[in-house]
Amino acid sequence: MKFPILAYGHPTLRKIAQEITPDYPGLQTLIDEMFEAMYESNGVGLAAPQIDKSIRLFIIDAEPFSEISEDLTPEQQAQLKGKKVFINAKILEETGEEWDFNEGCLSLPGINEDVTRHEKIKISYYDRDFNKHIEEIDGLLARVIQHEYDHTEGILFTDHLSAFKKRLLKRKLENISKGKVSVDYRMKFPKK
Ligand code: NI
Repeated sequence: MKFPILAYGHPTLRKIAQEITPDYPGLQTLIDEMFEAMYESNGVGLAAPQIDKSIRLFIIDAEPFSEISEDLTPEQQAQLKGKKVFINAKILEETGEEWDFNEGCLSLPGINEDVTRHEKIKISYYDRDFNKHIEEIDGLLARVIQHEYDHTEGILFTDHLSAFKKRLLKRKLENISKGKVSVDYRMKFPKK
């Protein structure tokens, strides 16, 4: 894969990413290379800040999640499959009940924690051809979008945890930023 994934502690992961226009140089190639990096690292989503590009772009293919849950409707299952590109996304509303899901992140290898989020979102975004969409999405796909969207806001899933949980994870996160972690995809560690 061309781009290493930035590890926890890299400043780009904390920036608010900038909107892009259709003439953003090399956009189509960048999107293809992001999918490549995501599949090679077995992720279900990847946001541009994770490859050191502070732009409002993230990609998702949550097919692996379509098999983990038995309560998915066939529609929800189908929704998780396939390549999805979100450019200049804005979450307009988050509604429905809050629920917990065990999240992980390519930038935080070895950390998986339950995160509480709303079950439904209303989102506006542009696809890779810059067609505008406004959609209401729920369940696991909404969950993955919320996680990736956070990356474009400089937010990591561990930010949503309790102060107590954060304290427990402090050492682990510090080790990730130093490269003291076992990982089978290319990463860039800020303090190594
Ligand atoms: Ni992530």
